[in-house]
Formats: sequence, structure tokens, C-alpha cells
Amino acid sequence: MRLQGKVAIVTGGSSGFGRATAIRFAEEGAKVVVADLDEEWGKASVSDIEKAGSEGALVLGDISTAEGAQRAVRSAVEQFGALDVLVNNAGIAQRGDPMDTWDTSEETWDRLLRVNLKSVFLCSKFAIPQMLERGGGSIVNVASIAASCSVGGSAYGAAKGGILSYSRQVSRELAPRNVRINSVSPGYMRTPMSTGERSGATPEEQEKAMERFGALVPMARAGRDLDIAEAIVYLACDESRYVTGQEIVVDGGYLVR
Ligand SMILES: NC(=O)c1ccc[n+]([C@@H]2O[C@H](COP(=O)([O-])OP(=O)(O)OC[C@H]3O[C@@H](n4cnc5c(N)ncnc54)[C@H](O)[C@@H]3O)[C@@H](O)[C@H]2O)c1
Repeated sequence: MRLQGKVAIVTGGSSGFGRATAIRFAEEGAKVVVADLDEEWGKASVSDIEKAGSEGALVLGDISTAEGAQRAVRSAVEQFGALDVLVNNAGIAQRGDPMDTWDTSEETWDRLLRVNLKSVFLCSKFAIPQMLERGGGSIVNVASIAASCSVGGSAYGAAKGGILSYSRQVSRELAPRNVRINSVSPGYMRTPMSTGERSGATPEEQEKAMERFGALVPMARAGRDLDIAEAIVYLACDESRYVTGQEIVVDGGYLVR
């Protein structure tokens, strides 16, 4: 097993990529703290982690606040004795807000930057001392192709681009101390965020949205949560021991089309 004996936090682990990652981590032997706002879906994730043969814990809270980020790290250490892996996955889309930058409100900009970028800084800031104490660790951020092309709105894109820049800076600081930091950038994907499942879209509307995605992508389908989770497992585990400061784009060929 590729993560045997490791302790991981997955932010946004109640849904989508986070949930798939939490389950894959459990299958690979890791104990997993799910840090999320959603209690019902979070409990279901923990139950799936246990079904996969490992231990899980749900920490409810907003990981874009210092208090919420600190609580997630503290829970990992108190419940499982250490912290080896942090997956900064929680995020929100700009959907429902105006996409044109001249119509974007200051409130929207601040919310997108806080939840999608500041959370990465805060969770990493509190996780890194625990990893240093352990002699090493791996941080994996979920960015987006929106960091590299114009999809998803300017506030969303700025936050995701910020994740890549932040990771490059921090990778240099931490490389001599055996803590790696890398990012995975999903393209057009099928998750509750993108299908609209969580915002009340009907099954027909969800399928239509996924058909539109498939038509845009060279591999002719929307990506799946497992496509992302497998890349995250690789960056979290020792197979990627000489990789830091990098981005893996998982987009079915969208950026090179
Ligand atoms: N779905 C896509 O097509 C797509 C594409 C590129 C990048 N991404 C990125 O992937 C990540 C996961 O997206 P997803 O599609 O799985 O989304 P999702 O909505 O299915 O899941 C996101 C989870 O994050 C949690 N969350 C949101 N804000 C939080 C906060 N402040 N504190 C704690 N938890 C919070 C939500 O409750 C939810 O469980 C996000 O960072 C998103 O920007 C998604």
C-alpha cells in the first residue's frame, strides 16, 4: 500500500475530488481527516473511508479561517498522532456571480480569493510545522486549468493562478527539509460542483452540462473524480519523492488542443 501508516487531511473531503481522494487514500492505508463545512456528506465520506479499511474523522469548519485551518491540523495530530499529507482541495466556483470582471463585486472577489487561495496558505502554514516534526511530508493543492486559460471567471482564475505561484515559492523554502508541495489542475470534470447537482440541477440538466464539457475536450468526455484522485495519490506518496513545485494538468488534452 502506497500510503501505509500515513496521516492525511483532505479539505473539501465531503464531495467530488476530495471525497474520491479520501477513499483512495484509505485504500492505500492512510488515516484521513475530512475537513469540510458539510456534515451530512462529510459523515458519508468517513463511512466510506472506514469501509475501505482505514480510520477517518470529520472536522467541521471553514478552512479559509485561521481557526478552521488550525482545528483541522490539531484534529489530525490529536486523533491520529501526526500529519504527513495535506490536500488543499476545498474550493468554490464563481458560478452564480457575474463572470465579467467589470461586473464582479468586491465581495465576490474577496470570497473567491479567501476560500480558494487564502485557505491554501492557512492550512499549509499550520500543517508544515507538524510535517517538519515528522521529518517530511507532502502538500498537494487542487488548482485548475483556469490558472492557465480563460475559463471560470477572473476571480476564480486569479485564485487558482495564485495557488501555482504560492506552491513554487514554498517548494524552494521546504525542499531542503523534505516537505514537497505540488498541484493538480483539473480540466472539465464531472463533480457535484460542475454538474450543478448541489445547486438543484435536474439529472437531465446535469447530463446536458456533461455533454457540453465532452464536446470541448480532445478525449471527448468530462473527467471523473478518480482521474484527479489518482494524480493526488501519486503526488502524496513516495513514488513522487523527487518532485516538488510542479503542476500536473489532468484535463483530457484540453490545454493542448
Ligand atoms: N469540478 C470541476 O470541474 C473543477 C475543475 C477544476 C478545478 N476544480 C477544483 O477542485 C476542487 C474540488 O472541486 P469539486 O468539483 O470536487 O467541488 P465540490 O463542490 O464537489 O466539493 C468541494 C467541497 O469543498 C467544501 N468547501 C467549500 N468551501 C469550504 C470551506 N470554506 N471550508 C471547508 N470546506 C469547504 C464543500 O463543502 C464541498 O464539500 C476545488 O478547489 C475546485 O475549484 C474543480
